[in-house]
Amino acid sequence: MHPEAPTPLTARKASPLKGVAAVPGDKSISQRALILGAMAKGQTRITGLLESEDVLNTAQALRDLGASITRTGPGAWDVTGAKWQSPAAPLDFGNSGTGSRLVMGAVAGRNLTATFTGDASLRSRPMARVVEPLLAFGATYEGQGPKALMPLALHGAKDAQGITKEITVASAQVKSALLLAALSARGTSRITQTTLTRDHSEKMLAAFGANISVTPQGDGETITLEGPASLIATAVEVPRDPSSAAFPLVAALIVPGSEISIPAILLNPRRTGLIDTLLEMGANITITGRRSSGGEEIGDLTVRHSHLKGVTVPASRAPSMIDEYPILAVAAAFATGETKMLGLEELRVKESDRLAAIAHGLKLNGVAFAISGDDLTVTGMTFVPGGGTVPTHMDHRIAMSFLTMGLASLKPVTVDDVAMIATSFPEYRDLMKQLGAVMEAP
Ligand code: S3P
Repeated sequence: MHPEAPTPLTARKASPLKGVAAVPGDKSISQRALILGAMAKGQTRITGLLESEDVLNTAQALRDLGASITRTGPGAWDVTGAKWQSPAAPLDFGNSGTGSRLVMGAVAGRNLTATFTGDASLRSRPMARVVEPLLAFGATYEGQGPKALMPLALHGAKDAQGITKEITVASAQVKSALLLAALSARGTSRITQTTLTRDHSEKMLAAFGANISVTPQGDGETITLEGPASLIATAVEVPRDPSSAAFPLVAALIVPGSEISIPAILLNPRRTGLIDTLLEMGANITITGRRSSGGEEIGDLTVRHSHLKGVTVPASRAPSMIDEYPILAVAAAFATGETKMLGLEELRVKESDRLAAIAHGLKLNGVAFAISGDDLTVTGMTFVPGGGTVPTHMDHRIAMSFLTMGLASLKPVTVDDVAMIATSFPEYRDLMKQLGAVMEAP
């Protein structure tokens, strides 16, 4: 799907960024809309779907499992559920951890076999965290080595029974996989997660008619789901993705004189950790028009260039901004003082080892930092030197984060390959250009 040769890109000091950043649909919600639609009776109409490689790969995998999925217009998709069947060939999820892991859950509850594979990045990510707990339903698997790497064959349960399980890993993907398996299991499943993670699956399952309830449990919560559940197709309106908005947002904060608006962004409180942190750092972000869309809270942001100051980001905030640490590290480089980001262990198992990738990118661009255990401290500076060529390690968020740095650093910043940006934000380059950013081939 990607050209053999990498496509490097250089971002250089920009004049003020101005205009409207209309970012595409939320990736997490887009993935879930397709998957639940493919499991439901009837036709699910989705609007605002993110048409990125990750989401399109999930759509193809769901077709391979038997669902009918068609695009009727920009962001408008119809999904008709079906009884799933064992696919003839391996399901290729490309770069998508979410697509593959959630579909693993759905397959685990059903009497069928599927092989899961993906690109080099996805094939290096641990699947044991997902498939091990799925064994409790009666599923079995064959993966590669103790981390259960892909290619991974998953044999769904012949007669899945509801389970009671506590999960301590702070992953919405793991939680969601268990919930999707529980849909096909007989009886009640009780899934306790000891930390709160994004709750899009729970909300959407309720919208599709599942009998699901959530009760607080210590610092986390218990989700109770009655199975077997027959989901009923429904309309899904996908809000715009705050994790994609993070890039123009931080760009506007660090490029002097900028003022941009970011309309209709998802503001689910389990996704707003970056905005909360930037506000603490002194960012000039105003939120207006808070309203509800498709069962989720949204609002409009206005962002102006700001003098940021370093803060400490507690580990407890990590799940609500887990994908935003690379761009926060860039914002922190331009802040006064130190920004301490605590409890980043989950960053090591993302599309790349993001902690290592962030550190390397900072070093190559002359920014001082320290890593102690799972904590990262970035020392901000008035003038960020830049000048580095950053290896992106097949990680879209590393690519977009360091391009953002180049818009405000003294020397331009180059990233070695921008191909992976298409996994989550294909419009990124055009959108940034429209705002006035300068990004060109080196
Ligand atoms: C996601 C959950 C997070 C996040 C990923 C999307 C989801 O992963 O990093 O980009 O849609 O559930 P984990 O659940 O593994 O933390």
